[in-house]
Amino acid sequence: MAEHFYPLKVAEIVAETDEANSIRFEMPAELRDAFRFRAGQHLTLRTDIGGEEVRRNYSLCVAPDDGQWLVTVKRVAGGVFSNWVGDALKPGDTIDVMPPHGSFTTAFDPASKRRYVAFAGGSGITPVISLIRTSLSCEPGSRFTLFYGNRESNSVIFLEALAALKDRYMGRFELYHFLSDEEGEVDLFNGMLDRATCDAAIGALVDEPDKVDAWFICGPGPMMDAAEAALTDRYVAHDRIHIERFIAGKPSAAAAARQAVLQQEAAGLSISVTLDGRTRKVQFDGRNILDSARDAGLPAPFACKAGVCATCRAKVLRGKVDMAVHYGLSDEEVAAGYILTCQSVPCGEGVAVDYDA
Ligand code: FES
Repeated sequence: MAEHFYPLKVAEIVAETDEANSIRFEMPAELRDAFRFRAGQHLTLRTDIGGEEVRRNYSLCVAPDDGQWLVTVKRVAGGVFSNWVGDALKPGDTIDVMPPHGSFTTAFDPASKRRYVAFAGGSGITPVISLIRTSLSCEPGSRFTLFYGNRESNSVIFLEALAALKDRYMGRFELYHFLSDEEGEVDLFNGMLDRATCDAAIGALVDEPDKVDAWFICGPGPMMDAAEAALTDRYVAHDRIHIERFIAGKPSAAAAARQAVLQQEAAGLSISVTLDGRTRKVQFDGRNILDSARDAGLPAPFACKAGVCATCRAKVLRGKVDMAVHYGLSDEEVAAGYILTCQSVPCGEGVAVDYDA
């Protein structure tokens, strides 16, 4: 689909911690359908800061049935958007927002009795708390365990909200905090969620790990790698592990060099691009399919341009493409022919991609 941004008014800025603020949007009745979302999904925000267009993706931290639209933005050192939110954004201001998207989710069913476990670190809690809230309220027979890593208790986003959920859903929600810069009585909880701690937490705190229906991982890169390795080494099936990345890792020099060669070889090839029901031929510009489409005047959607957010997802209808990275796609999506166009280079003439698929 072409990118459709809607100007949404900021209803409230909620200070979650010294570093993190949630933005609550006013949602006009006529946009509620377009902004319906699934737990774990995110919004793409767009605004002008200092004369430059800036786009960022932020996860919704509420459940779909809450009737609210809130995203949480944690300050990043030198971060243009996150510091603008913390310093300048105020209620009554307007931001362009793209309807929710993302595949860090699962199908909730009130009749299911499922077992969920999540590893979250820092602001990685935002999509995870949406999943927790949804499973606890929509699936009365399901249980959720959260391993949540932070530096210190002051920096824990949703500290009170999580404690309240634990009280309210006693026996169905287990919450374990891991703090790297504070020391408590239990050794296991002192330190980061590194590989050894992830292994120990699963071993000690998850009864019957084999019966966990879905594992969710979101947080800093090393924590995500550690949690994923702990699960794959236990032979947890890939389709039960859901990973949401906020930041892409840097490609290796070899991968970057390989991509540069492919881009050069593909320069000038013609690609057929379908967007909003119309198909057009565009010329590959030597960078990626997304930029080629946009240079040709097609409003193909994007946010991160780093292979993480999947805003630029399209399906290959014909031909072969090479993707530099595809963090934002599940294995199933890749197998079904989906690509991240910001990362894709056509391998030969006649490639056709469809943003509507
Ligand atoms: S724009 Fe984010 S993955 Fe392509």
